[in-house]
Amino acid sequence: MTKVIILTGAGISAESGISTFRDADGLWEGHDVMAVASPQGWNDNQALVLDFYNQRRRQLHDVSPNAAHKAIKDLEQKYEVVVITQNVDDLHERAGSKHIIHLHGELNKVRSTGNQTLVYEWTDDLHAGDLCDEGHQLRPHIVWFGEMVPMLDSAIKQCETGDIFIIIGTSMQVYPAASLIAYAPLGSEIYYVDPKPHISYELSNRYGLKVIKEKATVGVKSLVDELLNRKK
Ligand code: APR
Repeated sequence: MTKVIILTGAGISAESGISTFRDADGLWEGHDVMAVASPQGWNDNQALVLDFYNQRRRQLHDVSPNAAHKAIKDLEQKYEVVVITQNVDDLHERAGSKHIIHLHGELNKVRSTGNQTLVYEWTDDLHAGDLCDEGHQLRPHIVWFGEMVPMLDSAIKQCETGDIFIIIGTSMQVYPAASLIAYAPLGSEIYYVDPKPHISYELSNRYGLKVIKEKATVGVKSLVDELLNRKK
């Protein structure tokens, strides 16, 4: 079965009402990104970081998957599909995609600050004093700047065996996520759907890259229709 690798960034969720990062002057919902998304930020002001992610987690109740998330699910009718996302929202899950790798963590999970392997599902607010089973404070299960990306190896393995790649709504500024496309086998088809595409070093070296300069709900939908209508 032909394997499609979907690489998504904040732009795919923009039309669901979730802000992107670099469209807002380096601020994330009004905050300096390093204050809310780094170990230093957590050490400086735990209350601010907890409150920030509580708000992001609550926002998930007010948003829904859009036509692009749903089209990606539809691709499973004919292809093996693996979604590798930089997003921490759950919109791919709610659209029904079966195989999802979250490179930068998930809003609906928390983990122990004392034992990284203790990860819990968490859909409510997280407070100071909420502890893991071993008695350590819990923190958002988010990969902050400067931290390891534990899912990177499995993402690379998937990319090495892909046939068709669709990059959607990412500025390709954050590594190692932006370098994953370098693992696409030679000869694979690569599409990039973004109204303001940023052609990174990795992408510029890819002969045959097809840029679809559209919003995700338009560009992904029409590309998926085309892929589903292919004879083979
Ligand atoms: N459809 C498709 N793409 C869109 C849309 C849309 N409707 N609206 C905006 N975009 C594009 C922008 O043109 C931009 O290229 O989405 C991209 C968003 O880029 P960023 O804000 O940089 O988001 P992303 O690439 O996902 O950021 C990567 O940075 O701060 C970290 O960890 C955070 O995962 C995040 C990472």
